[in-house]
Amino acid sequence: YSLKYGRPTPVHLTIGMYQKMVMLDKLKKKSLYMRAQKFHRDLPATTVFVYGTSAATATFPGPTIEALQGVPLWVTWQNHLPARHILPWDPTVPTAIPKHGGVPTVVHLHGGVHPPQSDGNANAWFTANFRETGPTWSTPTYLYPNAQSPGGALWYHDHALGLTRANLLAGLLGAYVIRDPASEGPLGLPRGDAFDRVLVLADRSFAADGSLYMNATGDVPRAHPQWQPEYFGAAVTVNGKAWPFLRVKRRRYRFRVINASNARYFNLSLANGLPFHVVGSDASYLPKPVVVSHLLVAVAESFDVVVDFGESTEVVNTAPYPYPDGDAPNELNGKVMKFIVDPSNTCDDSRIPARLPEYVRVGDEDEAAKKRYIVMYEYDDPATDNPTHLYINGRRPDDPATETPRVGSTETWQVINLTPDNHPLHLHLAAFQAVRVVELVDADEFKRCMTRVNDAVKCHVERHVAGGKEVEVPEHERTWKNVVKVAPGTVTTVVVKFVMVETGGVYPFDATAEPGYVYHCHILDHEDNAMIRPLKLIK
Ligand code: C2O
Ligand code: CU
Repeated sequence: YSLKYGRPTPVHLTIGMYQKMVMLDKLKKKSLYMRAQKFHRDLPATTVFVYGTSAATATFPGPTIEALQGVPLWVTWQNHLPARHILPWDPTVPTAIPKHGGVPTVVHLHGGVHPPQSDGNANAWFTANFRETGPTWSTPTYLYPNAQSPGGALWYHDHALGLTRANLLAGLLGAYVIRDPASEGPLGLPRGDAFDRVLVLADRSFAADGSLYMNATGDVPRAHPQWQPEYFGAAVTVNGKAWPFLRVKRRRYRFRVINASNARYFNLSLANGLPFHVVGSDASYLPKPVVVSHLLVAVAESFDVVVDFGESTEVVNTAPYPYPDGDAPNELNGKVMKFIVDPSNTCDDSRIPARLPEYVRVGDEDEAAKKRYIVMYEYDDPATDNPTHLYINGRRPDDPATETPRVGSTETWQVINLTPDNHPLHLHLAAFQAVRVVELVDADEFKRCMTRVNDAVKCHVERHVAGGKEVEVPEHERTWKNVVKVAPGTVTTVVVKFVMVETGGVYPFDATAEPGYVYHCHILDHEDNAMIRPLKLIK
């Protein structure tokens, strides 16, 4: 269900986190769970953690919050979670561990342009009834100004220190859409609840009793008894159902596809060859629609697409896991959902416009105020070759901030991936886009150099990419994004704007306040251990 805010005045909302059972159909009659959903008809009830305005209406995914551009929204987030977690977690990664028990949680609006106090800092966690709060906690009520442009999709999710992977897996996530009917209406895209839909993709494994299953034995138990480098679920769920179907009419639909998985990338296509008309990605429109047959969606990335249905078809997934060098998807996780098309003709007054809203242009990277090197590095256990932790620039999350951009500035970041995996880099607050991807000529040599000095500058990045193969940034990813895929063995140059990308104007709040923001890898298992760094804006 969705919560709509169409009023032109600021809105106040209270959303809680609850524990709930997701039930089988036949158990639905027990009135307590009348509104409950189920993951699959053949699965027993599943206990989840969910968002909602009451225990009865809380769902997985949480209610879609529909905000109006320019209308601020205040949300008071409350924690009604039980004393114990329903999933394993690991105290040996940097983790929020309350003295008096309870499940720490804090909410981040992913893609939101909002003050630091409302950002859901990993240390601003709180337990039930605010009995205990983390060191950077300051307020129960968050402000979302919604001053940013409409288009694409945002989502809200847990961000508690060291528990993000378990809290999202348990169900603490939901979509958030910003609309501006005045500017978006004339675009003519499919609209209304029936034809403009959010699709939240998340892979999950279930035990035979229906409970969520997460492997609780670490790959390197000596270092981390429970932590695993990536969670991959056996089943694919869409909007809280495993392999669902959606009945559609023969016409155009707009889908805002969000990958809310912990670690799984999706490479989506329609089995009958029907294309996706991509109109946006993350929280931005593209300058014009781009037609693609495949949509590679990293963890936490989103695409805003139009599909013009003719006949029934299936959505399939071909992304290896881990991406890009892991196993090919199987019978179960290679299937996503089905569209069943009603063959009767319907009138469709929507269209795919030739032009879409444009923002500040991505400038020449040489004009940026500051050039930074961001190195993604995996530390392996020598005995097993399994990773024990991942760092950015060899620094711990709580080492002092080194990325301290000026409000209003543009920077270029050269992101160097020395691991075998693709990592979805996510920045809070800022919008950024990849402008150049070059393969390292000799990644191993670069790695040896890095190991010695742990400083990308001293390794002469330019020398290591000179003559390297340049990789095209796909046209449908050329807009202001909040997640950029960083391929292994590459240097990905991103232009980062610490301004409102719609107008080039400054943020309508003090972005330099404590506790600042963060940037991190959005593979949740990486983020928790400990591929995350502070992002502290200065005046
Ligand atoms: Cu989607 Cu720091 O988060
Ligand atoms: Cu990662």
